[in-house]
Amino acid sequence: MRSWWGGRAGRPTVPAGDAGAAPGPGLEPRPHAATAPDTAPGTTHAPGPGSELHAGTAAEPPPGTGTAPVPHGLPETDAHLPRLGFVGAGRVGTALAVALRRAGWPVPAVASRDPARRDRFAALVPGARAYAEPQAVLDQADLVFLTVPDDAVAEVAAQMRLYSGQAIVHTSGVLPSSVLAPAMAAGTEAGSFHPLVAFAGLEAALAALPGSVIAIEGDEPLLPLLSELAEALGARPVRMTAAGKALHHAAAVLAAGGLVALLDTIRELGVAAGLDDAAALDTYLDLARQGLDHAGALGTQAALTGPVVRGDLGTLRAHLGALQDRAPDALPVYVALVRRAVAMAMARGDLPADRAAAVLALLAALG
Ligand SMILES: NC(=O)c1ccc[n+]([C@@H]2O[C@H](COP(=O)([O-])OP(=O)(O)OC[C@H]3O[C@@H](n4cnc5c(N)ncnc54)[C@H](OP(=O)(O)O)[C@@H]3O)[C@@H](O)[C@H]2O)c1
Repeated sequence: MRSWWGGRAGRPTVPAGDAGAAPGPGLEPRPHAATAPDTAPGTTHAPGPGSELHAGTAAEPPPGTGTAPVPHGLPETDAHLPRLGFVGAGRVGTALAVALRRAGWPVPAVASRDPARRDRFAALVPGARAYAEPQAVLDQADLVFLTVPDDAVAEVAAQMRLYSGQAIVHTSGVLPSSVLAPAMAAGTEAGSFHPLVAFAGLEAALAALPGSVIAIEGDEPLLPLLSELAEALGARPVRMTAAGKALHHAAAVLAAGGLVALLDTIRELGVAAGLDDAAALDTYLDLARQGLDHAGALGTQAALTGPVVRGDLGTLRAHLGALQDRAPDALPVYVALVRRAVAMAMARGDLPADRAAAVLALLAALG
């Protein structure tokens, strides 16, 4: 079987198990045993041998033992798109499958341990068959989405072994694709595909995917296909390195929950200032939106305003005193952001070194 990423990326297709596939230690080629018919978008993919519901795992060579290269047994499809399989029918797996199926990509199989979840997935994704075991998905897909919780990714990958010519991705924002190593064999590729979307409910997620960013990372030959998948969802693919993933995820967490936590601090200060609880947040939301818009349009440094930029020590002293007296829980947040603003204002050339030192001395005096 051809590898979709190689063929589609304009790279020479590596025959499954070919020495050119450069298997790493323990990455022996694993021939595909299934004989499923060709599929096209909109057609149901009949399961091949070994892919029945609750089917047992096909015999596989133990990692590290030598076997002769044998091509993948799943026939090449006439369709222009690879078959996508999902392991994990939760929020992300179901929403991605629905969106990709609507975009015309074939989704023949899903595995979920929970009967209600897998039945819902099959009802929502035309042509998808639902199974309890990941093996059935491996038997029918070219690209497997492992959409299980972060803590379960390595554990579930360890229960799987890809056939030559297949690829696997997880959707964790923080984990690198290397955690999928236990599932890999020669001629296989791994990646991660992380939508910066809050998958709160199916309809909300489907509405949020177009226009969103999807961080992609992993084996280089696979990345063009992952970009294509992101674009098929109307999203913008952004390449990420494995080493950058934890920081990328920290940034995403700050952009989502962190920003909301900051808004909660703002709301609390409004209430402490005497505003009605219900109206407090709304009082500052328009200002917050202006800050977001300016930062987006001008960049963060140019968008920075406030007493730090002006080196206005009297105002800062008044803020710090009031926070200490009446909103001490908000003080560390305020101090951390003032420190950040000092560095930004200095970098912008607006805050002379002596003024900056005076502001930092005010903060240091808080103890
Ligand atoms: N939620 C978000 O907003 C969001 C956004 C971007 C990325 N992500 C990432 O997407 C991935 C999935 O998140 P999610 O929100 O879709 O999770 P979820 O709704 O909790 O669904 C997880 C799925 O994995 C299955 N599963 C759980 N533990 C398992 C295990 N030990 N072995 C096998 N299957 C297991 C679940 O159970 P069953 O097998 O019983 O069905 C379920 O189908 C995570 O890596 C997450 O970080 C989430």
